[in-house]
Formats: sequence, structure tokens, C-alpha cells
Amino acid sequence: MSTILRQHAEQLFAEELEALQKTDSGKRPANWKLSPQAVVTYLMGGKLSNGFEVSPKYIGQRRLMEIAVATLTTDRALLLYGLPGTAKSWVSEHLAAAISGDSTLIIQGTAGTSEESIRYGWNYAKLLAEGPSERALVETPVIRGMKDGKLVRIEELTRIGADVQDTLITILSEKSLPIPELNTEVQAVRGFNIIATANNRDKGVNDLSSALKRRFNTVILPVPDSMEEEIDIVRRRVESFEKIMELPAEKPALQEIRRIVTIFRELRSGLTLDGKTKLKSPSGTLSTAEAISVVNNGLAMAGYFGDGQLKAADLAAGIMGAVVKDPVQDQLVWREYLETVIKTRDDWKDVYRACRDIS
Ligand SMILES: Nc1ncnc2c1ncn2[C@@H]1O[C@H](COP(=O)(O)OP(=O)(O)OP(=O)(O)O)[C@@H](O)[C@H]1O
Ligand SMILES: [Mg+2]
Repeated sequence: MSTILRQHAEQLFAEELEALQKTDSGKRPANWKLSPQAVVTYLMGGKLSNGFEVSPKYIGQRRLMEIAVATLTTDRALLLYGLPGTAKSWVSEHLAAAISGDSTLIIQGTAGTSEESIRYGWNYAKLLAEGPSERALVETPVIRGMKDGKLVRIEELTRIGADVQDTLITILSEKSLPIPELNTEVQAVRGFNIIATANNRDKGVNDLSSALKRRFNTVILPVPDSMEEEIDIVRRRVESFEKIMELPAEKPALQEIRRIVTIFRELRSGLTLDGKTKLKSPSGTLSTAEAISVVNNGLAMAGYFGDGQLKAADLAAGIMGAVVKDPVQDQLVWREYLETVIKTRDDWKDVYRACRDIS
């Protein structure tokens, strides 16, 4: 087992990617490692012609992944948009891994992201010593992607200031990046494109300018449709996390996952699953991603400080932490839910007790 804390998708799934390459008979766009069909198989999982089993990465509508992959073959860039924790970054990483064999060309968008971190910067020592030259130029992931014909990922695009976002316009429409200081330009090699992610909770921070919007195809990643789908996502992610962290706890108890997903879905929608009781929703997002980390935390608690079996007591603190983000408002919401819903469920007595004990 590798000692790297978190391997890139192309490292972690190297075996699957290799198997896909071997059996892939589809036509590959220039500089793509796989055909579009094989990329979708990598994302959605499936059995290959030689019997090799590819694990699903994205759980949800196949159509969305097809649209995303098809977009990347065109001259438009791809924007993955949606609520927090809907697998935008996850899908973006896997797309880059499957298509370019490299998911590391990444720019993390923040309010402080500057034009230099998108276009290019200078090594000032060299710049002063030698004047502007290729050697003094500091390449960004964007330049490297353009030169190598690879996908470049921009995380949280809408957190970047509008004027800085607009540096992407020339890159996306002309597929070239002028370097006036050297009187030259970098022309993108086929295979280059951009995958951006944006969170709709950040809406209004910096909207995407309309000029830029026209250069992106937006794919909205939804919150999991059904309870079963969400349970499936949590279970799979927890199992793989468990493998990587070598946690001593037993297999994730499906019953506990089901209860957490139930709590999250009910509070998120403001209604109990049976549709009978209206609830107040807390301020946090209670995303699938948070459900995953609550279970992971619970497993660590059970493994190190419990008897190895995942129980309500191992999860209570995590659930409360996810629900109560605002100490006043959310605390009230949680109290009410605890007393009016959790308490009344006969087979949830242990959850009720565990939550009461810590609140
Ligand atoms: N539909 C899904 N299929 C597979 N995994 C999912 C799905 N939804 C969420 N996940 C899991 O949730 C975790 C978090 O996803 P990710 O970080 O990609 O969210 P995000 O949409 O980028 O959120 P944010 O807006 O906060 O950046 C990932 O580990 C991913 O496996
Ligand atoms: Mg993200």
C-alpha cells in the first residue's frame, strides 16, 4: 500500500484505466487517452469485454456524464455546477484522469486568484538578471495544459474576481495565450480544454460574466434523487475510505448509514420521509459529502474508542456537528427534530439517547 496520503485518481485507478485502454475500440479525439464512450464507462462503471469490472465513480444519471464528456470534445469548456458536495470536484478529477491521464493541472479559485496564476508569472531573480526570457517565465497549469494538450481544472471558478475570470476568454475563444513581453504566444495543442466547477451557494459572490458563460457548457450535478441512491453513494465512498485509511472498524453498518441519510434528507427537505411532519431546515447544506464524513468519523470512533462496531453513539457527535453550524438557530432546529421525530421512532431509541447525551 502506498504511503501517499491521497493518491490522484489516475494513480488510484491506474489498473482500471489500463484495462479500459486495452479494450477500448472507440475513436479517440486527439490526445485523449480513451474514447468518449470508455471515459463514460470509467465514470459510471461496468463490465468490459474481457470480463474486467470497472467500479462506478459517479452515481447518478449516465446522461449527465455523457453530456460532460461530449462537451470536452468540442471547443466549449465544461462547467460543473451545483450545490456543495454533489461531486463536482470528484467528477472533474476523474474526467481529467481518464481523458488526459493527469488530474493535477489544477487552479484553486479564490478571491485572491490573480491573473498571473491563470496566465503566467515571472521568476523575478531571473527576470532581473536576464531580462524577460522563456527561462524567467513561470508557467501556470493553464499554459502546461495548452502545451501538452491536456485538461486543466479550475476549482470554484465563481470565487475568482470577474476581471480575473475574463482572462479565460481569449484562452477559450482563441485557444492561444499571448505573451507580449516575449513577443510570442502559446497556442493550445489539441486535447486542451478546461473543466471548471462552481458552487451555487457562492452565487452572487462573483457571477460568471456573460461573455464567459457563452464559452462554457454547464452541467448541473443534482443532489441524489432517491434515498437508495444516496445510501449507495455513502456506502461506496466509506468503504473505499476505510480501505485507504486501514481503519480497524468492521464493515460499515448499513443500518447506521440509512439512518444518517434519513436524518440528512429530512432536515434538508424540511419534511419527514413519510411526509407527515414539517420540519425547519438548518443553515448548513447537509450534503452527501458531509454524510460521508460523519460515517467516516463514526468508524474511527468505533474502531479506536469503541468495540469496532459502528453504533449510534459513535455517530451522534458527527451528526450534531453537521446539523448545528449556527449555535443558536440550528440548535433550536436540531432540538425540535430530536424531540419530535427521533424520539418517536421506536427503533431509533439508541440514536435519541446518544444525541441527548452529548447535547
Ligand atoms: N453522485 C455522487 N456519486 C459519487 N460520489 C458522490 C456523489 N455525490 C457526492 N459524492 C461524494 O461526495 C464527496 C464530495 O464531493 P466533491 O468534493 O466533489 O463535492 P463538490 O460538489 O466539489 O462540493 P463543493 O461545492 O463543496 O466543492 C466525494 O467524495 C464524492 O465521492
Ligand atoms: Mg468542489
